[in-house]
Amino acid sequence: MEFGAPHMKLSVPGRVTATAVAATVSLLAGGSIAGAAPAGTSAVAAAPDIPVANVKAHLTQLQSIATANGGNRAHGRAGYRASLDYVKAKLDAAGFTTTVQQFTSSSRTGYNLIADWPGGETNQVIMSGSHLDSVTAGAGINDNGSGSAAVLETALAVSRAGFHPTKHLRFAWWGAEELGMVGSKYYVNNLSTANRSKIKGYLNFDMIGSPNPGYFVYDDDPGIEKTFKEYYAGLGVPTEIETEGDGRSDHAPFKNAGVPVGGLFSGADYIKTAAQAAKWGGTSGRAFDRCYHSSCDTTANIDDTALDRNSDAVAYAVWGLSQ
Ligand code: TRP
Ligand code: CA
Ligand code: ZN
Repeated sequence: MEFGAPHMKLSVPGRVTATAVAATVSLLAGGSIAGAAPAGTSAVAAAPDIPVANVKAHLTQLQSIATANGGNRAHGRAGYRASLDYVKAKLDAAGFTTTVQQFTSSSRTGYNLIADWPGGETNQVIMSGSHLDSVTAGAGINDNGSGSAAVLETALAVSRAGFHPTKHLRFAWWGAEELGMVGSKYYVNNLSTANRSKIKGYLNFDMIGSPNPGYFVYDDDPGIEKTFKEYYAGLGVPTEIETEGDGRSDHAPFKNAGVPVGGLFSGADYIKTAAQAAKWGGTSGRAFDRCYHSSCDTTANIDDTALDRNSDAVAYAVWGLSQ
């Protein structure tokens, strides 16, 4: 939602105090909200509304990159590296510390991009990620430009807000997911035991703008699941548990290593039922994404409402789980 998101109870830009009561008292006293938290309590910042136009602008850029590079952004192809360079440049300009992690798969070089937001308890890391590679058949705009753009715009929103939560924020864009989660497996396998245990949550976003969308929440970790469900309850949009191939995305290596995981998904090649169409709209008897892994997965293959809601949910979870 772009205006007056219902979960933002106080429309004070950027910050609200820990309780509505404290904020009301400070307003009556003429105090500033930012300084209203009494000593010993900490202010809790509300998540911003992520502008869906910005998310779509990233998708337009990823589409252009594919078009200029043989029609895809696949592992080992020029379109993948150009996608990574696009995301990295935005993050560098916004003050992130970026790392490109290189690996080899199917005799081709692949890359993960990791972006750390300076500050926070480095032994309490909240990580959000999405795969940035497409299949060779097409541009991969829903799969997974959508997750990549939403995570990017959330990271940029962290910078714009000057958000400095108690926990440390890390963002990741994975390579070679389409070859079997190769990049995310490489990242997890190369973490020391100590660094792995510092990751208190991994949030995965793979396909979140499907053209005939469903609203699916991963049920792996109860705390993370609750956060996403809370966001959707605030919108009055029903959700279902994600079951379209558990373990088919980059959260799987984290889960296997004992990291609490969660995420969102708007559906791939499964067919929307009549019951699902009744609660979410769209077309029953048709796939959530008819262009899954096809050449028609272009910027036309996105439902703006699903992209908007899920992007706002990414920010809601990042803000909510890090402070
Ligand atoms: N990861 C799959 C892909 O990129 C898509 C997918 C299928 C998926 N089922 C899922 C993603 C369940 C997340 C959750 O092709
Ligand atoms: Ca929004
Ligand atoms: Zn895919």
